[in-house]
Amino acid sequence: MKGTKGKPVYLDASQPIDKRIEDLISRMTLEEKVGQTVQYSTFQEKDEALIRQGLIGSFLNVIGAEQTNKIQKIAVEQSRLGIPLIFGLDVIHGFKTIFPIPLGIASSWEPDLAKQTASVAAAEASSEGVRWTFAPMVDIARDPRWGRIAEGAGEDPYLGSAMARSYVEGFQGNDLSKHGTLVACAKHYVAYGGAEGGRDYNTVDVSERTLRDVYLPPFEAAVKAGVGTIMSAFNDLGGVPASCNSFTLTTILRGEWGFEGFVVSDWNSIRELINHGVAATPSEAAKKAFEAGVDMDMVGGVYQTCLVQLVKDGEVSEKTLDAAVRRVLRIKFKLGLFEHPYVELGMSSKVIKRKEHVALALEAARKSIVLLKNKEPILPLKKDVKTIAVIGPLADNQPDLLGCWSFTGEPEDVVTILDGIKRKVSMKTRILYSKGCELEGTAKTEFEDATKKAKEADVAILVVGEGRFITGEASSRSTLDLPGVQDELVKTVFETGVPLVLVLVNGRPLSISWVAEHVPAILEAWHPGIQGGNAVADILFGDYNPAGRLPVTFPRTVGQVPIYYNYKNTGRPASSERWTSKYIDLPVTPLFPFGHGLSYTNFEYSNLRIVPDRIKVNGKVKVTVDIQNVGARKGDEVVQLYIRDVVASVTRPVKELKGFKRITLEPGEKRSVEFTLGLEELAFTNIDMKRVIEPGAIEVMVGKSSEDIQLKGKFEIIA
Ligand code: BGC
Repeated sequence: MKGTKGKPVYLDASQPIDKRIEDLISRMTLEEKVGQTVQYSTFQEKDEALIRQGLIGSFLNVIGAEQTNKIQKIAVEQSRLGIPLIFGLDVIHGFKTIFPIPLGIASSWEPDLAKQTASVAAAEASSEGVRWTFAPMVDIARDPRWGRIAEGAGEDPYLGSAMARSYVEGFQGNDLSKHGTLVACAKHYVAYGGAEGGRDYNTVDVSERTLRDVYLPPFEAAVKAGVGTIMSAFNDLGGVPASCNSFTLTTILRGEWGFEGFVVSDWNSIRELINHGVAATPSEAAKKAFEAGVDMDMVGGVYQTCLVQLVKDGEVSEKTLDAAVRRVLRIKFKLGLFEHPYVELGMSSKVIKRKEHVALALEAARKSIVLLKNKEPILPLKKDVKTIAVIGPLADNQPDLLGCWSFTGEPEDVVTILDGIKRKVSMKTRILYSKGCELEGTAKTEFEDATKKAKEADVAILVVGEGRFITGEASSRSTLDLPGVQDELVKTVFETGVPLVLVLVNGRPLSISWVAEHVPAILEAWHPGIQGGNAVADILFGDYNPAGRLPVTFPRTVGQVPIYYNYKNTGRPASSERWTSKYIDLPVTPLFPFGHGLSYTNFEYSNLRIVPDRIKVNGKVKVTVDIQNVGARKGDEVVQLYIRDVVASVTRPVKELKGFKRITLEPGEKRSVEFTLGLEELAFTNIDMKRVIEPGAIEVMVGKSSEDIQLKGKFEIIA
């Protein structure tokens, strides 16, 4: 088939994509088709021949305009059909301009911030030849022992869905073929965050209802936002591993949601079906994953070695293969790779770490920091304090502030917290620095130096927490304490009697009960990215009024895990009664609840309006509330709306976030905030496993956190 200008149809950009795909498929050999399902990591000279034969469809971990162009040239100019490769990379929270970790971004409760950071990351990464990111990670995580909690938006499906949507929009833009976009990949499909015991890669066994109401919504949101790809997870899901689960990959993803992009496996997760014990051979693993709906094999090599034979033997139909190849090709066409397979050399120097990008990194870090506690209040500090002791292993630390997914980031770009403080204080202020101890290990030799400096100071700022590589993948922890001797360091400095401010730099909730009780001010900075030091200093000294809110519950001890705000009431809700659901040795409340975060100003809530107070099942309710800044400083408030479905055909959570808005108010300013509750907010998976709205009463709670409810109301859904 020839196009209008004598070119084959598939190379004719004026033709519709579907026509181009069909034309191309009709020309492909079986081997070339399988090639499109094969992804390699990093390039080696020996791969050249395979690319030339059209036997590799994608690479990950190949970066750089020159390098990607060189390899792309082999595919486009030296292979029979010239099908371009797609280069993927984990561009999770920035490429060179590193932003706060996703858990930090989620703490901003501002989805648009996620969008902006994703769009900057896309511009930077694509200037170096990458066109596909393995992000966003949209796994709901209720267990902070799981290191990968750092990579997602926390414990809540509603907040998680909002973030998922915005990341996809940010990475992909309006038109994937435009310069500066990346095709996104929602991962890890699905319920990977539900790993038993929080142990990475572990078995997950959740009910279909929990799957649908808790783990699936952010993926569905990503699909609705047009995400181009999905990654199938490592975990077993109730006996059927996620990477060969046709119920989740085909029935739900493609059948119920109409997903048209392609599914890539996680790293080697198809071959690992052998370890799971559902396949005896690579060939069996390939067949299972492929037929379940995994279109591309990341690194595992099983599609490459087995698929051709499986088709020849009639074990996998060529029709199924064609469908997968079509999906991969569609993304390549959409990205415009056939027209523009190469990157302009030198482009990246104009894009990477531009002033606006660095400014956004500062804004993102400021917005993601959560003021957990501020007694008296000790914060903000005056800039002309005479002597400040800055203590702790994360105070003068660049690499760890980058966070878990920052391999492309450069530690030297990081403004340390010590530097941020130095830049902020008056000329006359003396800064005394002591590392205090290492991040891990048992040595206390530097304690003496730390206490000596603390004693000389008017205030001590302790910067403690987690190194970046004890968070993220394969970094599950069995305790949630400060690692090493950091806890003891805090106690030792506390005993000097110096007023203390603690800055946490970490990737997960920590059970800092002693700290929370004794230290008067605590700032949760997460792993804040390259501008972390400036952002922390802006907040410590009052140049920015903090408004981050926790997207995840902080437990009192690790034994309280899993603890999350949207739990079920049980038949015996916790009370002072003995025979109720609780631990006998702990309060039932968490250390810090979901949605918690303080400000340097105060907000008053009033005038809750719920209109109408009766709706039909397909109706909508408007909830409006007035918020006034009654303090003396400008600040942001995150207004949170929760509902409770009081009686339903199945048990419902005691509270569910169904609306939130971060607003900025000048001192004295008052504003109405409006939320709409409709299908998305009110539907749930009923007794028949159908997503419906049931008649009955809905309680409405509006407040500053999941525990700090300011106003309550009600409406009724009628049949
Ligand atoms: C991780 C994924 C990641 C992939 C590629 C895997 O080990 O689970 O999140 O995208 O590696 O780097």
